Amino acid sequence: EKGGYEHFMLKEIYEQPKAIRDTLTGRISKDNTEVVYEELNWTPDDVASINRVLITACGTAYHAGLVAKYYIEQLARIPVEVDIASEYRYRNPLTDKNTLAIVISQSGETSDTLAALKEAKRLGARTLAITNVVGSSISREADQVIYTWAGPEIAVASTKAYTTQLVALLLLAVYLGQLNGKLDSGLAQRILTDLHKLPTLCHEIFEGVDDIKSFARNYGFREDAFFLGRSIDYAVAMEGSLKLKEISYIHAEAYAGGELKHGTLALIEEGVPVIGLATQEDVREKMMSNIKEVKARDAVVIGVGVDGDTELAKYVDHTIFVPKADKYTVPILAVIPLQLLAYYAAITRGADVDKPRNLAKSVTVE
Ligand code: F6R
Repeated sequence: EKGGYEHFMLKEIYEQPKAIRDTLTGRISKDNTEVVYEELNWTPDDVASINRVLITACGTAYHAGLVAKYYIEQLARIPVEVDIASEYRYRNPLTDKNTLAIVISQSGETSDTLAALKEAKRLGARTLAITNVVGSSISREADQVIYTWAGPEIAVASTKAYTTQLVALLLLAVYLGQLNGKLDSGLAQRILTDLHKLPTLCHEIFEGVDDIKSFARNYGFREDAFFLGRSIDYAVAMEGSLKLKEISYIHAEAYAGGELKHGTLALIEEGVPVIGLATQEDVREKMMSNIKEVKARDAVVIGVGVDGDTELAKYVDHTIFVPKADKYTVPILAVIPLQLLAYYAAITRGADVDKPRNLAKSVTVE
């Protein structure tokens, strides 16, 4: 049932091209100009009445929400608030009928996320679930549902569910931007064309797996690791850090590049592995200076950049390149090497990859 792979997690990482393709199927017009979300079927008036978006979720799904904030704010210009489901429920939130409340949940059964959904509904919000399980509690509770078609995810560490959540959320941002007229049609077409290329581009990343294995072998026995990123890469850094923690038990932290010198830089010393994400062109210069800051303290830096970034290679000890893609689709690719790094670090340490200690696949207690 693991299809020749040693673990479900590895199988699910390698299933991402198919999962992404399945999640895209039928949702983009033939000429790549429009998102077709038949399950939503919203009108421009429906979208005009939304004055804020609220996203609640837990864990990896919360990280997908953080990326979606960039997507929706940039492409549809609607303010987005992202909250951890277990925090949202207990803070008497400012949600009303002009709020679009999105919950993201692979399993559709996470109790805090379900409770956040019920709370948003009680306050009058329009509710939308993004989930991977047809007929799940969350899919039944929400007004509308967008399914990710990732197929069953068995490993505790979420991989293909996360990347398909990003795909569904990017489609949603484009859809909202089209309906409220805030999105340039040329940009929409570029994003939609790029989305179709993702499955092929994932395979290019898989070709670099030997380098990732050797980084995992070389640094897998360190006790700490840091992930740095700015803008969308900061959200990717958080997801990379969580993946590493939960399956390899290495203590990892993610920081926004600019926050580093406000405390965390004190922890950077010789040999500490830092994974520096530099896929976002508009914050690139700033990210490079953060990379220089940690290099100056003799950290070992693995830079994650886009193909052809020869400058990045000059400043870091090792590089992982992801194929060139636009700023919105590149984060969907950039997380894949981090999933593989976490997987091989866990293997190096002899950890039980598919069933990490203390964790359950679906958290139905509060
Ligand atoms: C991490 C992981 C968890 C889940 C979280 C939410 O790899 O899998 O952080 O993302 O428990 O689960 P769902 O998406 O089922 O609500």
